[in-house]
Amino acid sequence: MIFGRVKSLDAILATAEKKSLHRSLGAFQLTMLGIGGVIGTGIFVLTSEATQKAGPSMIISFMIAAFVCAVAALCYSELASMVPVAGSAYTYTYAVVGELLAWMVGWALILEYAVGASAVSVGWSGYVVGQLKGWLDIDMPAAFTAGPFAGGVVNIPAVVIALLTTWLLMIGTSESARVNAVLVAIKVLALTVFMIFALPVMKARNFHPFMPLGAVGTFGAAASIFFAYVGFDSVSTAAEETRDPQRNVPIGLIASLIICTLFYILVAAGAIGSPLGGQPVRDAAGTALLPGSAELAARCQAIVAGGALEPMPCSREALAHVLRVLGHPAIGNLLGLAATLALPSVVLLMMFGQTRIFFTMARDGLLPERLAAVHPRWRTPHIVTAVTGVAVALASAFLPVGKLADYSNSGTLFAFMMVAISVLVLRRADPDRHRPFRTPAIWIVAPLAIIGCLVLYLSLPLIAILVLPGWALIGLVIYFGYSRQRSHVGRGISDGDDQGGVPPRTV
Ligand code: ALA
Repeated sequence: MIFGRVKSLDAILATAEKKSLHRSLGAFQLTMLGIGGVIGTGIFVLTSEATQKAGPSMIISFMIAAFVCAVAALCYSELASMVPVAGSAYTYTYAVVGELLAWMVGWALILEYAVGASAVSVGWSGYVVGQLKGWLDIDMPAAFTAGPFAGGVVNIPAVVIALLTTWLLMIGTSESARVNAVLVAIKVLALTVFMIFALPVMKARNFHPFMPLGAVGTFGAAASIFFAYVGFDSVSTAAEETRDPQRNVPIGLIASLIICTLFYILVAAGAIGSPLGGQPVRDAAGTALLPGSAELAARCQAIVAGGALEPMPCSREALAHVLRVLGHPAIGNLLGLAATLALPSVVLLMMFGQTRIFFTMARDGLLPERLAAVHPRWRTPHIVTAVTGVAVALASAFLPVGKLADYSNSGTLFAFMMVAISVLVLRRADPDRHRPFRTPAIWIVAPLAIIGCLVLYLSLPLIAILVLPGWALIGLVIYFGYSRQRSHVGRGISDGDDQGGVPPRTV
């Protein structure tokens, strides 16, 4: 067998039958869940980063990233409807392409979820600092609100939110459907208000030059802004808790993706058309500076000190900044408040996703089972949550949001690519199996997803490209040094005790 150990699809499905979680989610709730997981730091913060990389052509960048997500989502949907169990891309690949690649996917998902949670924590920090200034005129010292790459020392607010979220997860807090619905409404309302104020006063001339840094810049921004869409896969992760997943999971995935894309494109257009414009910040020699670099931070400080408006690529709370500049300071502050309230739920969802993946991997024997120990009173995998939380807090303390988002993207793109490959392999290897949802035009859609993920991955900054193989190498050492010998599938142990006492996701 070319792919080595494969977890039998039938065994996974039988386990899911036996221990299935309560199926309570419908298409509407799934769409809400998708939007809740998706809208976050990407649109509220990384718009600045995308401007610096692509200028006004970031609108195209949003479309490119959305396209890749859409084709990946169609592949996700086929597997999610066939294998409606918790565990996401990791479980799917375990069943299809075998243990080693599944391990690599699970390992890459750590980048997606844990590093992604760090990115959102740093994004939140930017907004909370703006809030303190906007409402209370409190200036937080730059040294303690940004890491060394962004002109500070340590990002205390990001650490605080990461640790607070960890604590909530440890004591068993999970987002209720009602809280999620309220937060989705807040986010959608904030973006709608932004559009109402920004779109009618858009200046067409701001869109020229449209592509100041060429196609490379546009694709580079697409690779970074891809982060703005990460999280829609939480819909497929919830397949096990979905009513009629065969119908509802694909609807939830695609609907949340379409809604978010429309919002993103319109919001980006409004931001570019504002007096801040949408052009990259350049040094004295006219070279566009690298986003997240100390040089850019210094140039931004100099521009503001000179009395000019803070350009969009400099702002850590881009959308609120645009509204203030448009003459609506109170509305800008309210938008900032909305982001401050809503972003922590994205951190919570990502950290929850991370602990769930760790937990599933430990349940399969690939990670120490002690790591997945369940607290007797809280009924949560408190150890793995604490370990994750400390790592997330450390990363968010020192790294800028853009770099973290890029690292997270490298892992996510790999996982999405593996899902697309798995769908193709399964069509060949097991053509007769019932597929409640069939990816349309699979031999076009899946290759497009694979190529799209590859193109975006190669458009990331070099360091983010290198993070994935470096991380994979560490993963391989652990797999061959530890996990392979202990794997339940390898040792012929059936995982009858699925879920192992971890409370189900409540959404
Ligand atoms: N898509 C999520 C965000 O933008 C991760 O924050």
